[in-house]
Amino acid sequence: MSNIRQVRVFAIASGKGGVGKTNTSLNLALSLAVEGYSVLLMDADLGMANIDVMLNLRPRFDLLHVLKGEKALEEIIIEGPLGIGIIPASSGISRMANLDHKMHAGLIASFEQLERSADFLIIDTAAGISDSVISFSSAASEVIVVVCDEPASLADAYALIKVLSQEYGISRFQILANMVTSTQHGRRIYAKLASVADQFLDVSLGFLGSIPHDVALKKAVQNQKPVTLDAPHSPSAIAFQGLAKKLIGMPARASSGGALSFFVERRTRGIPVGERGV
Ligand SMILES: Nc1ncnc2c1ncn2[C@@H]1O[C@H](COP(=O)(O)OP(=O)(O)OP(=O)(O)O)[C@@H](O)[C@H]1O
Ligand SMILES: [Mg+2]
Repeated sequence: MSNIRQVRVFAIASGKGGVGKTNTSLNLALSLAVEGYSVLLMDADLGMANIDVMLNLRPRFDLLHVLKGEKALEEIIIEGPLGIGIIPASSGISRMANLDHKMHAGLIASFEQLERSADFLIIDTAAGISDSVISFSSAASEVIVVVCDEPASLADAYALIKVLSQEYGISRFQILANMVTSTQHGRRIYAKLASVADQFLDVSLGFLGSIPHDVALKKAVQNQKPVTLDAPHSPSAIAFQGLAKKLIGMPARASSGGALSFFVERRTRGIPVGERGV
């Protein structure tokens, strides 16, 4: 048992689109790699591959091949910057959003093979509250909800947390405020969400931290490079590095069989689920 590494699974969600999930996923993954951890980054925006675009990659194979049983998960992983493993999604293929039973089985088997291959699995989920967002969030050890200071972002984050808690038994969330003007601004965004959630929902919301609004990040996106590599000393890159340290320091919350088998179990059984795993 001693050489079995527990994979810690973080799902990055938001409700509203365009608030920074993909940048967060990618830069957190890289920042964890900088700290010496092995990281897998999964693009779970199944119909609209985000991470490939962000890194200017053109993977030959993606999750659709795994779901069709043509490739093993191991075979589609491409090596990204700093040695992170990227699990690419398909672009523009809507059937990826509607997985049938056979496809589930293929994916499940593949995750079983991957069990010992990473310290962290970061899952970049799609916008909205689709089945896939719910499944991946249910499977994660922690759900990070990215919000920014816009009524629609706060409302959609609240709606997501409400559905995941009331219908799927997820009670712990980490809030990450993005595009803030100061640390206090980030805390205020968190406080707005937490005050409504405390009043109406039975959940525990942690404040993970905030990422400043940063022109260097925008520029990096234009260059199809992650800001962590394009401008490592920029305010957002420094913030991502701090967040990675926070994730590393968080108590591991994985099932005894490892987070991925937990992940697999949840996918097999389907949801809703009751208590989340410890
Ligand atoms: N901290 C930041 N500072 C400045 N701009 C930012 C920041 N975070 C995100 N952005 C801007 O927001 C855009 C959207 O970010 P990103 O693609 O990460 O969002 P997303 O939540 O993954 O979107 P989608 O829901 O479409 O997948 C970026 O291209 C960038 O221009
Ligand atoms: Mg995205």
